This record gives sequence, C-alpha cells and structure tokens, in this order.
Amino acid sequence: MIRAESLTRRYGPLTAVDNLSFIVQPGEVLGFLGPNGAGKTTTMRMIAGFVPPTSGRAEICGYSVEEQSLEARRRIGYLPEGAPSYGEMSVRDFLQFVARVRGLRGDRLKVRVDDVIGRLELAGVLDQRIETLSKGFRRRVGLAQAIVHDPPVLILDEPTDGLDPNQKHQVRQLIGTMARDKIIVISTHILEEVDAVCTRAIIIAAGRIVADKTPEQLARDSRYHNAVTLRVEKASLVRDMAAELRGLEQVASVDIVEATRTLTVFPKAGASVFADVSALATSRGWSLQQLTLENGRMDEVFRRITTEAATKGAA
Ligand SMILES: Nc1ncnc2c1ncn2[C@@H]1O[C@H](COP(=O)(O)OP(=O)(O)OP(=O)(O)O)[C@@H](O)[C@H]1O
Ligand SMILES: [Mg+2]
Repeated sequence: MIRAESLTRRYGPLTAVDNLSFIVQPGEVLGFLGPNGAGKTTTMRMIAGFVPPTSGRAEICGYSVEEQSLEARRRIGYLPEGAPSYGEMSVRDFLQFVARVRGLRGDRLKVRVDDVIGRLELAGVLDQRIETLSKGFRRRVGLAQAIVHDPPVLILDEPTDGLDPNQKHQVRQLIGTMARDKIIVISTHILEEVDAVCTRAIIIAAGRIVADKTPEQLARDSRYHNAVTLRVEKASLVRDMAAELRGLEQVASVDIVEATRTLTVFPKAGASVFADVSALATSRGWSLQQLTLENGRMDEVFRRITTEAATKGAA
C-alpha cells in the first residue's frame, strides 16, 4: 500500500503541501483533484521519491521512500507532469533504456517493451525522436515508460493531459484494467475522469485535504443531486413552466436559463420530484426535448469545496 504520514513540503515561506496523511490500498484508484498550485504534483513527487519532504514520510509497500529508496522506487511507476526527458532519443531507444534501468533483460525486456508499445499504440512512432512528437504522443511515451516494469504502484500526474478523445478513452480503459491488481494514484483536472476511473477522490486546496470521498459521495454533496432538468422547445414557455413547477409540493426552487430553454427543479431536502415533474409535464402537454434526473454535478461540488477552503484559509 501507499502510506503518507504528515507529508509537508515548504518552499521558502510557501507551504506547498501541508501535513497530508492518507493510505491507499490495492485495488483503489485514487484521484487527486485541486486547483492549480494546490500541491498535487508536489505530493506525487514526494511519494515517488523525486522531492524530499520537509517533514513527514511516505511509504510504498512497507518501504520508506527516503530510507529504503531503492526498494520503494522499484515498486513505483511514475509519470511526471509534462514531457519525458531524453527528448533526443528515439521512442524505441528510450523505452529499451528505461526497461534496462528498471532491471529488465533479454526476452522479458522484449516482451515488456512490446507490450507497452501495443497498449499505448506507439508502433507508428518508434523511430521518431521524442522531442519531435506531438504532445499527446509524448504523453503516451511517458505512460509507457511508467508501466514498462509492471510495477504494483502507479503515480500518474495528469495522465490524459493533451490526449485526443479516443486516446483519453483508451488510457482510462488501460487504467481500469491495471487497477485490478495495482494501486493507482492519478491527478486530473477533468472531473468526469474521476467518475470514469477513480474509486476515491481526494480534493486538495492550498496544500491541505479538504475532501476524501468516493465519486458517488461527492456527487451526493452537489446541490444538483436528485434535481430534475427539463429542456423545452419554446423559450416563451420557460417562465410559465417555472411558476407551475414552483407550485409542486416537494419543490424547493427552480432555476431557469432562458438562452438554452432549460429549467432545473430542486427538491426539498430528502424529497424526490421526478415523478411529479414528469406527471405535470404530461398533464400540461409540455413538449420536452429533455427530462433528466441529475446525479449531481462534480464541477459545482469542486468549486464550492475549494472556494470554501480558500475563504477559511484567508480568515
Ligand atoms: N521547486 C519549487 N520551488 C518553489 N515553489 C514551488 C516549487 N515546486 C512547486 N512550487 C509551488 O508549490 C505550489 C504547489 O505546486 P504544485 O505543482 O504541487 O501544484 P499542482 O496542484 O500540481 O498544480 P497544477 O494543477 O497547476 O499542476 C505552487 O504554489 C508552486 O508554485
Ligand atoms: Mg501539477
């Protein structure tokens, strides 16, 4: 497992990571979320052994990252933020080089390198220098080097940054497949990614943990959880519909966006309004283009949690 105990990193007067403690177990895919500068990369670097903590410690599979760094590092695959170094090397040479550094030789080396070339679809660029690759391909080479030695722990800093939608999907599936027998920590700014691949999310703001929950629990914290959204054909109907919907017994409030002809109906605490809204729509003969029961909006929860933390921090 990964164990972080009071991890703290200061840069001069700035506390980039402030006393973070958490444990990640096999089978978990932990998503690190947080605004720019929150401390995600710094935390991942400390866990991967690339930056020493100012205080606190990290442990990988029982090995201290600082005191037993060889044993700890052997068990980690790390995708740093940005582009891989060794830009002047070809993709093929780079992957073979990394595999050798990771202790692979002979048939095993060939099998592993071929495996990651296949998984990350790199066959077409093997002889190209890394520095001449497009951003998405550089990212894929970075991912390939992180998993080439098949480590039990993966630390991936924004793994889908810069990938096209097909590759994003591919990499998320790859993470899902690897998750069965590994511990995976990813950072991301794509909130839908948390739903798609993570079993747990930690939100960091100003170096501190402000939420540690499953994606489902986070969605339930949204004011949109169990809200009903309707989209109608005629903009002229929106206001009248809102007035009628506000009259329903279980309805707390109704938001309207006239530009998109959309209404969102919020239930009173603990209530459910879908059946009543849909019955009202039928009885009035409203012509709907959309009628959706909302699960919750991650972006709204993220904004609320991280701005509340900023306000508290300033107080
Ligand atoms: N080597 C360094 N020297 C000085 N300050 C640093 C250094 N590395 C990081 N910082 C600062 O630490 C804070 C956290 O940075 P970090 O890169 O961990 O954030 P992040 O959450 O990964 O942000 P992003 O979403 O933009 O990637 C920032 O204020 C950053 O400027
Ligand atoms: Mg970062």
